[in-house]
Amino acid sequence: MTRTLEIELGSSIRTAVIRELDPLAADALCFDMRRHNEHADVPALVAAVRGLVPSLDEVAGYSLEACVAAMRDLGMFLGSIKRHGPEPVPLVPEVQPVLLELGRRTDMVPRDTVHHYTTWNPTGGRQRMYTGDIQEAYLQESVRMVFPHLREGLELAERLSGSDVADPKFAVLTDELTAHVETMVSSIDMVVANVSPEFFARDLRAYFEEITVDGRVLLGPAAAQVPLWLIDQAIWASDNSEPEYEQFLRDSVPYSLPRWRELYDHWTGIPSVVTRLVEAYGDDPDGAERRMPGLRPSAEALSRLLRVIIVFRGRHLGIARKAYDADLRLYPVGSGGASVDLLRQIVDLTRTTAQLTRRPAGSAAARAERRPA
Ligand code: HEM
Repeated sequence: MTRTLEIELGSSIRTAVIRELDPLAADALCFDMRRHNEHADVPALVAAVRGLVPSLDEVAGYSLEACVAAMRDLGMFLGSIKRHGPEPVPLVPEVQPVLLELGRRTDMVPRDTVHHYTTWNPTGGRQRMYTGDIQEAYLQESVRMVFPHLREGLELAERLSGSDVADPKFAVLTDELTAHVETMVSSIDMVVANVSPEFFARDLRAYFEEITVDGRVLLGPAAAQVPLWLIDQAIWASDNSEPEYEQFLRDSVPYSLPRWRELYDHWTGIPSVVTRLVEAYGDDPDGAERRMPGLRPSAEALSRLLRVIIVFRGRHLGIARKAYDADLRLYPVGSGGASVDLLRQIVDLTRTTAQLTRRPAGSAAARAERRPA
């Protein structure tokens, strides 16, 4: 077992423990944070975070889970302060060594991430929220509901990346992965139904601004950190991408869990699944299918997977377009540093890849249709 697996932070048991924890005794202050944000009361937010910062000796006594919970709560305050204008760390300089130490202990960036804001956030009365608005709760839930599935999905992608594309088990594994990715569609549907682009653009977006810690600019805990792009990397993007999307991945990967960063490094150095499929088909798709009967079910399963990703991305692009409409938005680009144009480019790339999985099998299918019954 690798070191990163030993401290796998995404496991459901760890997640449940982290949610329960309140190492800084911050429950009440976190609740008050909503009111301070409503009144843009920076002095109150600064005073609160000053009162919460633990000493390094205290941090040394924390479990790994307590380190994560402490980062979660400090991070919510820092993001809140930034929302109202000032860079937070210079206002509470004693927080910086603690952030660095918590980042080191957890092997994550030295600020809170979307994992802290959603999965590791308690639910019910102790839920940490910037605004307290039910629409924010829907957004948190939309991400919370997908993470366990993406975690399973990424491990399935790892198995696919090591499997022969003609192996009969390949299609079964791919369909399992697709079932997990389908939760992304349910998630975005929930957001479209319950979160207005106005609320996101005018009220929430500002809390996901970047902050600077020890000279390093760190992005806020937004949904763009949900690693659908990591599934792309295994399936097609490691060798079929474009420079902007590659850069977006490089910028996003540091915010993911240690295990997922390991997967990214591994997949980046090997041919993607789709490339292997296309190579297996070669110049003679019909002959390839005759020699390898498992090939066509694999291609069809990959096509189904990409279809689901395209459905998510299409609906997601719809709400992103509205929230970043020039008349509504306060920021020209997303908190992940990317534009709606990039999102459109990613949808186009996914569609082009889906064609690659259809063309070889498609030509064989067309020929089969022409055969007399
Ligand atoms: C009001 C709702 C939302 C808006 C306005 C929005 C907007 C955006 C924007 C502008 C980006 C570009 C990257 C950046 O932020 O700089 C992005 C990326 C992304 N968002 Fe969202 N988003 C929303 C909700 C969600 C939800 C609920 C999820 C998933 C549960 C999600 C998942 C992603 C992913 C995975 C990316 C990376 C690009 C990709 O893989 O297609 N977003 N989003």
